[in-house]
Formats: sequence, C-alpha cells, structure tokens
Amino acid sequence: MAFKTFLFVSLVSAAILAAPVAEAQPGLLGGLQGLIRIQGTLFCTADGNMGANGTATPVFPNALVQLQCGGNVVSTSTTNGSGMFSILLDPLNYILSSVLSDCNLKVDTPLISCNSSLPAVGGLLSPLRFIGNTTLGALLSVANIIPAGFRFVPSH
Ligand SMILES: *[C@@H]1O[C@H](CO)[C@@H](O)[C@H](O)[C@H]1NC(C)=O
Ligand SMILES: *[C@@H]1O[C@H](CO)[C@@H](O)[C@H](O)[C@H]1NC(C)=O
Ligand SMILES: *[C@@H]1O[C@H](CO)[C@@H](O)[C@H](O)[C@H]1NC(C)=O
Ligand SMILES: *[C@@H]1O[C@H](CO)[C@@H](O)[C@H](O)[C@H]1NC(C)=O
Repeated sequence: MAFKTFLFVSLVSAAILAAPVAEAQPGLLGGLQGLIRIQGTLFCTADGNMGANGTATPVFPNALVQLQCGGNVVSTSTTNGSGMFSILLDPLNYILSSVLSDCNLKVDTPLISCNSSLPAVGGLLSPLRFIGNTTLGALLSVANIIPAGFRFVPSH
C-alpha cells in the first residue's frame, strides 16, 4: 500500500515536472517561428509556367525540383501526377528572409520528358515569392512560398 502511494505520488510529480518543459519550447511548435512551405505546379511548357490556356495547360509530372540555396541543393521534391511539388523546411535551420533572397527552384529534368517537341537539354529556374502565412491551430504557423515564375535556362 505504501509502495502504491509512493508510486502514485511519483507519477503525479513526474507529470507536473514534465509540463513546464513542454511549454518552455514555443519556438519548436510555432509562436514567432513557423514552418516554411514551398509549393507550386510545374507545367509542361517551354518555360514551365501556365500557358495561354490557363488551368487546361498540361502539367509536368515526375520532374525533380531542387531547392538550391547559395548554389547548394538543400531539398528536393518530385512533381506528382498533377505537376505539384511541395518542400517543407525546418524553421530552426532556415530564416524566411534568407530563403527568399538566397534560394531558387531548379529543375534539371529535361522538358522533352513531358513533351517530345520541347528541348532535350537545359532546365528551368525560378526565384521565390512569399505569399503570406497560414495559421494551423493555435501553435503552428506556416510561411507559404511559391515559385515567382520559371524561365528556361539553355545550359547549366
Ligand atoms: C509571417 O511569419 C514570419 C515568421 O514566421 C514573420 O517574420 C512575417 O513577418 C510574417 N509575415 C506576414 C505578412 O504575416
Ligand atoms: C489551347 O487549347 C486549344 C484547344 O485545345 C489548342 O488548340 C491550343 O494549341 C492550346 N494553346 C496552347 C498555347 O496550349
Ligand atoms: C498532387 O499533390 C497535390 C497536393 O498534395 C494533391 O492535391 C493532388 O491530388 C496530387 N495529384 C495526384 C495526381 O496525385
Ligand atoms: C508540345 O509542345 C509544343 C511546343 O511548345 C506545343 O505546340 C504542343 O501543343 C505541345 N503538346 C502537348 C500535347 O502539350
């Protein structure tokens, strides 16, 4: 009995001690810093952007999209059947303003792989644009970034 009481008191104490630890890390869960999400759709056109036919423009599936910062590949994503890609960055390692100024999206998968009339060499490059924050619940904030506009780069 005495042991059970001791065990109960120990568990309650542990729970009380554990609570402030979780609350002491707001930076991990949101607060001022949040996740950084880079997403967009790649189209199967000469410059990778939506064409004159708007959403009827064919997309570019299975393309490898690289996030390059200061010339280094820091993350990659492959476009799905809808041409969509998404990259999430850990806010502890990246600062929004630096990502916007130092990073680009680069596609090395040749355009010929989605349309045989398009070039077999060269790639696509786009700077980044911040379009606003989304709040998910009370603790998590997501900074949304999209490609500002791809352009064709003949050789790289
Ligand atoms: C979005 O959130 C970031 C921090 O994650 C903050 O620096 C920035 O000012 C916010 N921007 C807007 C427009 O709310
Ligand atoms: C737009 O759609 C029409 C009808 O499907 C097609 O003939 C035309 O080539 C398309 N234009 C572009 C730029 O894709
Ligand atoms: C591609 O990904 C987007 C976003 O996750 C999703 O909405 C869409 O349904 C996906 N398309 C395919 C064909 O999987
Ligand atoms: C392939 O690309 C050519 C040149 O841009 C374009 O005229 C043609 O409509 C495209 N074909 C398809 C199926 O999108």
